[in-house]
Amino acid sequence: MNNEQAEIIKATATDANLRSYEEARSGFDWTEVEKHFSWHATGKVNMAYEAIDRHAEAGLRDKVALYYSDATRDEAVTYGKMKTSSNKFGNVLRRLGVKKGDRVFIFMPRTPELYAALLGTIKIGAIVGPLFEAFMEQAVRDRLEDSQAVAIVTTPELLPRVPVKDLPHLKHVILVGDNIQAGPGQVDFKGEMAQASDELAIEWVDREDGLILHYTSGSTGKPKGVFHVHNAMIQHYYTGKIVLDLKPGDVYWCTADPGWVTGTSYGVFAPWLNGATNVVRGGRFKPQDWYSTIEKNKVTVWYSAPTSFRMLMSAGDETVEQFDLSSLRHVLSVGEPLNPEVVRWGLKVYNQRIHDTWWMTETGGQLICNYPSMDIRPGSMGKPIPGTEAAILDDNGNVLPPNRMGNLAIKTPWPSMMRKIWNNPAKYEEYFRLTGWYVSGDSAYMDEDGYFWFQGRVDDVINTSGERVGPFEVESKLVEHPAVAEAGVIGKPDPLRGEIIKAFISLRVGFEPSDELKADIAKFVKEGLAAHAAPREIEFKDKLPKTRSGKIMRRVLKAWELGLPTGDLSTIED
Ligand code: PRX
Repeated sequence: MNNEQAEIIKATATDANLRSYEEARSGFDWTEVEKHFSWHATGKVNMAYEAIDRHAEAGLRDKVALYYSDATRDEAVTYGKMKTSSNKFGNVLRRLGVKKGDRVFIFMPRTPELYAALLGTIKIGAIVGPLFEAFMEQAVRDRLEDSQAVAIVTTPELLPRVPVKDLPHLKHVILVGDNIQAGPGQVDFKGEMAQASDELAIEWVDREDGLILHYTSGSTGKPKGVFHVHNAMIQHYYTGKIVLDLKPGDVYWCTADPGWVTGTSYGVFAPWLNGATNVVRGGRFKPQDWYSTIEKNKVTVWYSAPTSFRMLMSAGDETVEQFDLSSLRHVLSVGEPLNPEVVRWGLKVYNQRIHDTWWMTETGGQLICNYPSMDIRPGSMGKPIPGTEAAILDDNGNVLPPNRMGNLAIKTPWPSMMRKIWNNPAKYEEYFRLTGWYVSGDSAYMDEDGYFWFQGRVDDVINTSGERVGPFEVESKLVEHPAVAEAGVIGKPDPLRGEIIKAFISLRVGFEPSDELKADIAKFVKEGLAAHAAPREIEFKDKLPKTRSGKIMRRVLKAWELGLPTGDLSTIED
């Protein structure tokens, strides 16, 4: 089916630290993994306790939990310090009256304060909602409105994008910065933290109580709140151990922002549940900064994304050679298809096999992976982790034989599976429409040896630089622009970003196509929604293809773009 399939990169001797895939799978039982946790006996649990306090209390108080650096800061935060700073923040929230189950959003750049706030929120049993700092007003509004958040932690710089007046449920704005003059409803983070007690009575919750709410995009409607519970720690801990292969001495760097699920499941929970030292680099992507982060912190395990690897590749082998990256022993990737070319390049310049992993916001944790001990087939996502089963289904739920393309599905349940879509039970049910399976929305096939190969999305969701963008959100923003009558948005293949966003637009009467207008429309989306959601390409059309019920046919736009046949047009308007 795929000529790349023949290529195999052998597992090396140093990878023998893990039992073979077959051995790990046979007789696997999640309840054995549960025994690792203190709550196994009591039934009461708290993710932040297991991630931080437990280690701080077990002799790792002075071990570095977080190496943080950006252009102006360079800090090491110990497990002991992370425990007390998150305790303090828990106390700040309690003093404000925030309770178990309340939603608290965090909207700020990656800094040690962000991590203290995130853990402190979890410690009091509140549900944390992390927001990517690049979100603009509409994106922030949608998420706070839908979740009815009671508090937000943000910075004075980002505050103008929080429409406080329009959010009646939002009682507290906690501002992180220097010399904060807190107005009504506002709280000075630093001042409050300085006064708060180091001691906190942790809220012991049930395994099925709310932990985190990650908003993500689908092909229709506003972003949906994917709801995860404390029970997810079982999978975070286990995959941290067997997929990230984390050991006590490891210095681990996940390059994702906590605004996305990778940045929490594998940027917060998995590494700390495993007692590793976590690295966070603030600021924007720059190849030199990235390599110096590895060199300076002696990063051993590195988890990043294809788009970053491709950008590092285009920065040239010479850039790699300027740094000592010999500390690296395990490299992984997630978020979009990992090109075989990138895998080969990684082997050449880093002397590392880049291990692809597949999962989604909804799955909460890794599911299909290349284990350290497994041969890699470049271009394949790997095999389902122990304790899980994946299959390729037809649209009626029948399991297809090897080499047949179909719906990538996972047998339910697994520990970190989402437990609901906030405010939207119908949407939740859609994922489970084929009885006994979670239907991912990705299409794939499985080869004879059980390796899974990603083929594409079944729906119109766009994956640009590993970020999931819903075409509907972008279209909704576009039609708010005074010149735009109608808009249809698609993902256009792009060598660096995987896909870029392309918008087809028909103009209102009185407006003429021009490059200035294109730039203005792109800017409008960038400033209203988010930079990564702005179309990089715009094409004006007199008319857009629509169904008779008025729905814009994105598949026709895509066919136009790719020069492919437009397929069945029987439902088109005229
Ligand atoms: O299409 C798949 C793609 O990213 C989608 C999930 O996006 P998100 O929820 O934002 O989570 C990203 C990180 C967990 C999937 O439906 N995707 C993710 N990993 C891979 C991938 N596509 C190909 N190969 C992967 N390894």
